[in-house]
Amino acid sequence: MKKASARIFSSFEMPSLSLPSRIVMAPMTRYLSPGYVPSPEAPAYYARRVEGGVGLVITEATIVDEPHATAYEDVPGMYGEEAATAWKAVVDAVHAAGGKIFTQLWHTGAIRKPGVGPQPELPALSPSGLLMPGVPSGREMSQSDIEAVIASFARAAALATTLGFDGIEIHGAHGYLVDQFLWEGSNQRSDAYGGDLESRNRFPVELVSAVRAAVGPSVPISFRFSQWKQQDYSARLAQSPEELEKVLLPLANAGVDIFHASTRRFWEPEFPGSDLNLAGWARKITGKTAISVGSVCLDTDFVDGSGSYEKLMQDFTDSEHATQEELLESVGHLMSTSAGAAGLHGLEERLDRNEFDLVAIGRALIANPDLPILLSKGKWEDVRPYDAEMLAELR
Ligand code: FNR
Repeated sequence: MKKASARIFSSFEMPSLSLPSRIVMAPMTRYLSPGYVPSPEAPAYYARRVEGGVGLVITEATIVDEPHATAYEDVPGMYGEEAATAWKAVVDAVHAAGGKIFTQLWHTGAIRKPGVGPQPELPALSPSGLLMPGVPSGREMSQSDIEAVIASFARAAALATTLGFDGIEIHGAHGYLVDQFLWEGSNQRSDAYGGDLESRNRFPVELVSAVRAAVGPSVPISFRFSQWKQQDYSARLAQSPEELEKVLLPLANAGVDIFHASTRRFWEPEFPGSDLNLAGWARKITGKTAISVGSVCLDTDFVDGSGSYEKLMQDFTDSEHATQEELLESVGHLMSTSAGAAGLHGLEERLDRNEFDLVAIGRALIANPDLPILLSKGKWEDVRPYDAEMLAELR
């Protein structure tokens, strides 16, 4: 029986970060953090993945201390004493198991609707008061809103490093606030933050600079980005490597050390004429560490068919808030997935050629906390299929 590549299980070194393996737990919202505080089950939940062979945990998206930041209840925050204490327990548990942990910092921007969050009456903030072309949401951010949001990311990043997190990931993907600035469909500003790609990148670049200043020179910063938006799966940030360079190089210069390219299927080439996937291009363009992700060990896509974000957007346009159950169903409405060797699709070869450095795994790690160990032993038949039901509890 063929075993997964030894390389994926090998240690990884970059300045200020040593990982025992190249397997990353992808950030996954769980809606199990009442009062914006990680639950008592969270330390064991994350540590179990490290015991199972994960080298780096990236936490579920965590809201920053800005009153318009969240679109959801029961997601954790990175502010306040209670959350800080709970996060410290998570960090300590992951470290005790021998792994490293980043927090993923999040502002949902136009996805928010009034009625949720610590200050439910507040509207959404967004670059242009738009969720997507033709769909208004919230109000256009003023200069002082922009400064306040940037300051909230810097504060959260500083707190996270104080708590012992090994790095910070900025959620710049999937059509949330940072991505709303990047995407022309949601950024129609006529000031310095809107216009061409370079100008739309100004907010993300300023945000990264502020986080870098807050955490100092040596704490690794990861930037998660995606071509697709939950508002429009076919939207693309960059049509070509040259456009991608216009986004990524300024971010690298502002302080990003790791690019986490969120794709639905890691084996798909990103641009014509090359086999490189999006993470491969990020590495080639910037020379920085790159994380690839998307359907590792699964044969179905994260947002396919009746998948998550369509349902979420339906809830949005129906103007009713999704209940927790609906949200769970929406993110988990992703069919039982069969896993195993077929889901590796040349991953080993790509890692061996250094196309990217690290591999993030999402759903298959929910289903199998010990997935890396199973893969390293070639025990494909023991890999459990992912099922949405598994999202009901932190296990
Ligand atoms: C996600 N994903 C996600 N992405 C992100 O950047 N922040 C988040 O909080 C979440 N939340 C989340 C919850 C759940 C239940 C799922 C299934 C997914 C996307 C995730 O990180 C990953 O990119 C995708 O799941 C694709 O990887 P897999 O599942 O195909 O390995």
